[in-house]
Amino acid sequence: MKVAGKHYRTIWMEGSSVFMIDQNALPFEFRIYEARTCKDTCHAIRTMITRGAGAIGAAAGFAMAQAFLERESGRRLALSAQPSEEHFNVEDARNEIEATRPTARNLYYATEKVFTAGLISADAAVSEAQRLAEENVQNAISIGEFGSKLIKDGNRILTHCNAGWLGFVDYGSALSPIYISNRDGKKVFVYADETRPRSQGARLTAWELMNEGISHSIVPDNAAAYLMSKGMVDMVITGADRIAANGDAANKIGTFEKAIIAKQFGIPFYIAAPFTTFDLSIPNGTHIVIEERDEEEVHFQSGPDEEGIIRRIRVTSPGSSAFNPAFDVTPAEYISGIITEKGIIGANSEHIKEIHSLIGH
Ligand code: MRU
Repeated sequence: MKVAGKHYRTIWMEGSSVFMIDQNALPFEFRIYEARTCKDTCHAIRTMITRGAGAIGAAAGFAMAQAFLERESGRRLALSAQPSEEHFNVEDARNEIEATRPTARNLYYATEKVFTAGLISADAAVSEAQRLAEENVQNAISIGEFGSKLIKDGNRILTHCNAGWLGFVDYGSALSPIYISNRDGKKVFVYADETRPRSQGARLTAWELMNEGISHSIVPDNAAAYLMSKGMVDMVITGADRIAANGDAANKIGTFEKAIIAKQFGIPFYIAAPFTTFDLSIPNGTHIVIEERDEEEVHFQSGPDEEGIIRRIRVTSPGSSAFNPAFDVTPAEYISGIITEKGIIGANSEHIKEIHSLIGH
């Protein structure tokens, strides 16, 4: 995607460094964060400098590759008899990467693939991480092409959180069909849920749509029933962080209530996700571990004051505690279809197994 006319990916690796668009600074500042070590990349995932299922997957793959590079350079130092740091343990690094964010399936998928490649050589680990980043882009494009067939000229689409370009390496999942429709000349209007507490919709989705020249409005998180009851929404598309074998889908907190409201008003509710988000080891969504984040995210918001200085302010009553689950699970029965890189499938175990056996991972 383009920022001020220049093409960027959300995250990439050059040498032993991982570069990523700092999503905590957006939309007020566009800056690139450089993670020089596996630990830096873990920090970036944990603190949401990079975020979103697909981007987290790419970051985890790169972090695992960095761990193998670090082990290799540690061995070289040991061979040249220079005092090296403690022997770098790639299993510990893998555990650290996997502990950064528990819900996104893509993170585990990438870590495992790169770990296996790294047992051959550090170079093989880097190539595998780069291949996964490429696959991430190609899957997102295919999701966009299949998903755009659902979108008619003039459609108004509601989305939740950010499942766009920033949530993947490029294009995104839920927003990819919208970008492709827009490029095909269809007029699309997007309602972007603000998505408290971190406001990925208000800050990131809105910024992406603005850059792409797509008409949109940011709407409060609690506006969906009103909009849908007034006939203002033709379709809902969101991403997913983990999809169970029966089609139950975990996504950003608040997704489930949008699905319930959509069903009430007979509005199609689609999930867009690549197969790397599916977890066939769990029969249904009750097995999905839901990340609970710090209550500070609920209490505080940040943004520029009138002079443009970024300030962090409290927005809740001092002394109250907050509970901050980051995801919820939408049961398969609320999902009209899952837009994947292989086509649009039903949210049920037969369809999922069928496509899964074609892909073979
Ligand atoms: O906590 P985040 O911002 O990493 O949330 C994950 C998500 O981006 C969403 O749930 C998204 O819709 C999934 S696909 C990018």
